[in-house]
Amino acid sequence: MLRVCVIGMGNIGNLHADIYKTDPLAELVGVCDRIPERAAKAGARLGVPHFTDARHMLAALQPDVCSVTTGGFEYGSDHYEPTMQALDAGCHVLGEKPISNDIAQAEAMVAFARQKRRCYAINLNHRFTPAARVAKQWQADGQLGTLLFCNMALWIGRPDDLDSPYYHLKALNPHSVDIMRYFCGDIARVQCFATKAPGRWMWSTASINMQFVNGAVGHLTSSYDIRRAHAVERCEVAGVNGRAVIEDMWMRATLYPADTMVQQVYQNPIFGGFSGFHDTFRDRIHTFLQQITDGATPEQIDGSGVDGLAAQKVIQAAIESLDTGSIVAVS
Ligand SMILES: NC(=O)c1ccc[n+]([C@@H]2O[C@H](COP(=O)([O-])OP(=O)(O)OC[C@H]3O[C@@H](n4cnc5c(N)ncnc54)[C@H](O)[C@@H]3O)[C@@H](O)[C@H]2O)c1
Repeated sequence: MLRVCVIGMGNIGNLHADIYKTDPLAELVGVCDRIPERAAKAGARLGVPHFTDARHMLAALQPDVCSVTTGGFEYGSDHYEPTMQALDAGCHVLGEKPISNDIAQAEAMVAFARQKRRCYAINLNHRFTPAARVAKQWQADGQLGTLLFCNMALWIGRPDDLDSPYYHLKALNPHSVDIMRYFCGDIARVQCFATKAPGRWMWSTASINMQFVNGAVGHLTSSYDIRRAHAVERCEVAGVNGRAVIEDMWMRATLYPADTMVQQVYQNPIFGGFSGFHDTFRDRIHTFLQQITDGATPEQIDGSGVDGLAAQKVIQAAIESLDTGSIVAVS
């Protein structure tokens, strides 16, 4: 059983903690928030010791695994310090997305995890669904073949304008870019247009063209301007042998083989299937715990810090493209 702590007890930290409490591979041993009331409330609710200083918690409890569920500027500036502290204390770390709003800090965290030989994962929870796994298996079985294109859409309602014009691009798209990379690999070049919905100062809807390293092409439409009830996540991946479409994240995956009119469909079952978005967190967290329990190496971690960094570099290139009007190579 892995001893687990959570740093950052907002809604998302409390969700991680709840999941650790029910996962058979984990024992939640402590929580931390630098806001004393948040730390105390979470500690009392969860029945574990609470702290306001992560270093004190790490020294006192010596956990095996630490979730870093802080937020900050552009929903990602606060991850750096506690992640470095947890890695330094010898923990395997599961950090929230975006890995960081700052590429240099993201690179430093990935490098430090590598140096310490600790498993560093990012909560790229949208790839942790049965529908995505079924589509990935179709791909592994050759049912897509040489890739041609990927069309991705991620639209949710987030009506409040936040702390930066790039908030939507940086905070939402770690998920969409990760799904595109999951099926099509690394992205070489991007070109981005974006718009601000009436009354907004944030780039709230974006259209991003991509060229993958393998030569396939891709497109992402992302938006914070769609009413929450009409949220969409759709991914279409096509190759010379067939086309897979994932709809509503975990609800459905359909294979359209090139040589027959007979389709294959995975449909989320009513009994035993995902019942909501939180199940993507449950699956992602359990997968991380299972990989560590099984002795996975840092390089084998599904949805790793390396993946989180790669997605963030694509987003950074899209922002540069938006600002300069040019096609930008992903560094
Ligand atoms: N994976 C997903 O689908 C998903 C969905 C929503 C949000 N998120 C991510 O989850 C993260 C948290 O979101 P939230 O809404 O709970 O944020 P939040 O701001 O409400 O909570 C973050 C908490 O971290 C605490 N904190 C910051 N730095 C700290 C430190 N060094 N030590 C201790 N506590 C510290 C803050 O005091 C705050 O209480 C964000 O990075 C966000 O992008 C992920």
